Amino acid sequence: MSDVERVPTGIPGLDELIEGGFPRDRSILVSGGCGTGKTIFCMQYIYQGAKKYSEPGIYITLDERPELIRQDMLRFGWDIKKLEDENMIQMIDASIAKIGIPSEEQYAMPASGFDLDKLLLEIMRVSKRIGAKRIAIDSIPALGFNYDNENEIRKAVLKLSYLLMRIGVTSVLTSETEEESKRYSKYGVEEFVVDGVIVLHYMGIGTQSNRTLHIRKMRATKHSEDLHPIEITNKGLIVHKIEEEYTKI
Ligand SMILES: Nc1ncnc2c1ncn2[C@@H]1O[C@H](COP(=O)(O)OP(=O)(O)O)[C@@H](O)[C@H]1O
Ligand SMILES: [Mg+2]
Repeated sequence: MSDVERVPTGIPGLDELIEGGFPRDRSILVSGGCGTGKTIFCMQYIYQGAKKYSEPGIYITLDERPELIRQDMLRFGWDIKKLEDENMIQMIDASIAKIGIPSEEQYAMPASGFDLDKLLLEIMRVSKRIGAKRIAIDSIPALGFNYDNENEIRKAVLKLSYLLMRIGVTSVLTSETEEESKRYSKYGVEEFVVDGVIVLHYMGIGTQSNRTLHIRKMRATKHSEDLHPIEITNKGLIVHKIEEEYTKI
């Protein structure tokens, strides 16, 4: 038993690998190459958080347009718009401000340009309004930090995760890695700042078991150390036990 309060992830099969869920008020990094399921992971966490556990959540999108995410998630039967109307989910659009185009979303970064402090203020404002308990930021590299300055990136990610903790939310951040890279994050510093790292892999050919999940780090948690097969079904992500023989639904 642990005395750390747990936040159920809403991803079938995952909670039992991490003592019941993410440690409350901490930040977890989900890392992996493109198409490994990071965006689905984040949205499943936010959607099920709102729907199943009555925890309001904020999804900050920096790579993809909100309307496309809403549309894609309908494939899993997740009606994001409905939960937005009920103030259980809010999306913050930081995807096109970066290129100077104004967003039509209710919550967005101004087209005059993106900066971390503005985003943090917006996160605080929306959090307060809906009483957010969960936040997803997809993705950290898209925040556009100065590549060459490792120290600056570390400071920025630290500031971000500190603020998220202060607000009192359990957050999931994503980072894109190259498939062949040995790193767990784009800049190689994010993983040291966060409280947990979950790595997604996709081999990209053939069979069912070519997607895997691996818990690389989870502070305050005795976690599985195995490489677990995962599956993207018509209801979203499912994590399997290693010995489990499963059949496609
Ligand atoms: N409805 C679906 N059924 C099965 N697999 C899907 C479905 N929708 C998306 N996928 C898989 O998920 C991938 C996209 O996942 P995504 O979370 O956007 O990846 P990432 O954010 O890591 O780039 C697609 O390339 C596809 O392989
Ligand atoms: Mg993505």
